[in-house]
Amino acid sequence: MLIFSVLFFNLIIGCLFYGLPSESSYNTNIDLNFENITFSSIRKEDQVIQAFIFAWNGYKKYAWGKDELEPLKKNGSNSFGLGLTIVDALDTAIIMGLKKETNKAIDWIKNDLDFDVKNDNVNVFETTIRVLGGLLSSYNLIKHPILLEKAKDLGDRLLSAFIQSTSPIPRSDVNLKTRIASNPSGYSSLAEVSTIQLEFRELSRLTRDMIYEQYAMNVSNYIHRIGCDGLCPYLLDVNDGKFIETTRTLGARADSFYEYLLKQYLQTNVDWFREDWNNYIDLIEKDIYMKIGSDYVLGEIEKDKTFSAKMDHLACFLSGSLALSYQNGINSKHLKMAENIAETCYKMYDTPSGLAAEIYKWKEEKISSDFRDRHSLLRPEAVESFFYLYRVTGNRKYQDWTWKIFQSIQKYARIPEGYSSVKNVYETEYITRIDKMESFFLAETLKYIYLTMAENQTILPLDEWIFNTEAHPFPISK
Ligand SMILES: *[C@@H]1O[C@H](CO)[C@@H](O)[C@H](O)[C@H]1NC(C)=O
Ligand SMILES: *[C@@H]1O[C@H](CO)[C@@H](O)[C@H](O)[C@H]1NC(C)=O
Ligand SMILES: *[C@@H]1O[C@H](CO)[C@@H](O)[C@H](O)[C@H]1NC(C)=O
Ligand SMILES: *[C@@H]1O[C@H](CO)[C@@H](O)[C@H](O)[C@H]1NC(C)=O
Repeated sequence: MLIFSVLFFNLIIGCLFYGLPSESSYNTNIDLNFENITFSSIRKEDQVIQAFIFAWNGYKKYAWGKDELEPLKKNGSNSFGLGLTIVDALDTAIIMGLKKETNKAIDWIKNDLDFDVKNDNVNVFETTIRVLGGLLSSYNLIKHPILLEKAKDLGDRLLSAFIQSTSPIPRSDVNLKTRIASNPSGYSSLAEVSTIQLEFRELSRLTRDMIYEQYAMNVSNYIHRIGCDGLCPYLLDVNDGKFIETTRTLGARADSFYEYLLKQYLQTNVDWFREDWNNYIDLIEKDIYMKIGSDYVLGEIEKDKTFSAKMDHLACFLSGSLALSYQNGINSKHLKMAENIAETCYKMYDTPSGLAAEIYKWKEEKISSDFRDRHSLLRPEAVESFFYLYRVTGNRKYQDWTWKIFQSIQKYARIPEGYSSVKNVYETEYITRIDKMESFFLAETLKYIYLTMAENQTILPLDEWIFNTEAHPFPISK
């Protein structure tokens, strides 16, 4: 069933010499034609590059080597101790053709990325999608050997989560130094255990060591086998591997389980992934995809089986996955659903600041947001969906929407030190800020905005690359 016999290292499309101070050379298959970029240029895509450089420079000045910039404290947070922003943002810098930033990141990864440095737990899922994913995608783009070497070292340490579990469900945390896995809560969320497979499979392909793929695929096989009686609850008990009766949602803690059914199908051609994806979309359509007033909403089913008209901004990812599904000929009705959900997601940005809140509810057929849910971390899911829909339909409306969101980010999230998260998107008189520039803002949000605004729409074609859930592209091997 597995596909590795047909995989080859034939991915270098075009090569370009890429000088480094400490390495003789490495190759890239991305056309780096931005050498003499001038920012007086009004091209929209160049303004996005400029925003990326601005964010990067703030991080570099105040938080270099830490995980994420705290622009108000002018410092950095460091709960992972993995230079999260550097590794997560690297492939965006590569795709944008930013050589100086790329070289500086590679030097840091080579000399300073040390998985022994922090004797503390890290979350397996976050570390996999951001750090392992970032190393593997950057390796595919520029083939610098240190990236694969670090990815393998990290992958070996993360395997403890599988090996040390008493059930087919991996543990949620690993201490990367001691390689001891644990589950502080006793639970793992569905998304955590089912959104590591693209990355482990890609590590196996590149290292030609099947072990990573086997452990990760066994988790998918297991969830496929036990099934969910409808949409899936979002929690699993790590001790016995059973689902715990909880909310059935496309939002936090369940979301990317569905995304990776489709993307694993595209990565492996294993048929049951496509069938499960199709079946779950049918269930979504039947159980939680509702027209409320003029909006198509992806609601939730509560523990007591009642429907709740609540939608996380996170759930907007589904629109992009449905567009990708349509593009691959999986189901023709998926495009209409994708477009309908995208309309709702764009409506989430219809706030005084033009930024979207974290969670919305529908009351008396009107979209609204509770006071405690009105923050924006500058998440990517809406612009991610507009990227897919623009690629799939060519409808410039999606570029216009993306540009409008970008301008709101520039207006309300940008401060001299970088970009901050925003506490209340309904306030514009006085902006209360959350002191963090999330690594996914550089890894995902700015990447998808750039790719959507780029004149050259043949960069990273969707039939050759799959983006992991953190927007790190892996090649599809045919
Ligand atoms: C667009 O990008 C592709 C892939 O990087 C490259 O091969 C092509 O030459 C570019 N086209 C233009 C017009 O720059
Ligand atoms: C960039 O500018 C330098 C100096 O102005 C020039 O020598 C070089 O040829 C330019 N490179 C490209 C790719 O246009
Ligand atoms: C940044 O925070 C660290 C603790 O996380 C502290 O030791 C350091 O002094 C702070 N730096 C600045 C410039 O405030
Ligand atoms: C994966 O599952 C198969 C079948 O249950 C088992 O034989 C194999 O040892 C498992 N592989 C790993 C790496 O756990």
